Amino acid sequence: MLVAPSILSADFGILAKEIVSICEAGADLVHVDVMDGHFVPNMTIGPVVVKSVAQTSTKPLDIHLMVEDNGFFVDMFAPLKPRYISFHYESEKHHHRMAQKIRNYGISPAIVINPATPVEFLKEIVKYVDMVLLMSVNPGFGGQKFIPIYDKIRELKELIKTNNPDCLIEVDGGVNDKNIKELKEAGVDIVVAGSYIFSHKNYEEAIKSLK
Ligand code: DX5
Ligand code: ZN
Repeated sequence: MLVAPSILSADFGILAKEIVSICEAGADLVHVDVMDGHFVPNMTIGPVVVKSVAQTSTKPLDIHLMVEDNGFFVDMFAPLKPRYISFHYESEKHHHRMAQKIRNYGISPAIVINPATPVEFLKEIVKYVDMVLLMSVNPGFGGQKFIPIYDKIRELKELIKTNNPDCLIEVDGGVNDKNIKELKEAGVDIVVAGSYIFSHKNYEEAIKSLK
């Protein structure tokens, strides 16, 4: 299981120190939540701060866009060369175009669906992305209660098998040491975890417990 700590739950007063700590503690990716106050009722960080994160991190960035204007933000963050940029199915009118725009920058495109969006909506786009991110909370905030989406993970696994076997499955929201085993068994490759890791006094132990 790969683990991508979400820095939304980090202490922003000492953000650089937090990034160094999670990288040293065994993070595989650094998950960066970008919110615009329109698609979700919260705002987070913009290009200036994400640039510092990219410079400090020794692990690749996994940028999760929760915004209305995906193209605007892709152009903004692409120069930082993240491993993934994920955009929400619900906020985008032209899914293939957005996936291609991200790929043209040499970045892996990923698509995200909210807990109430069916997996079958991904049927036509799944072969054009490198990862699908299934939300297990409604996006906008860290520290929310996990919504059991195990059936969706299994359904996605099947869809991927026939359409794009190399596509990875990531889950984001409410992940902890209680649900990690069932997530793995259902077929998840990468978990995002924010409050679980950053509320732990030992980040290495927290990451290890998920792996
Ligand atoms: C929610 C974000 C998540 C969030 C996860 O909108 O996409 O990445 O930070 O935090 P936890 O793990 O606390 O649910
Ligand atoms: Zn996220």
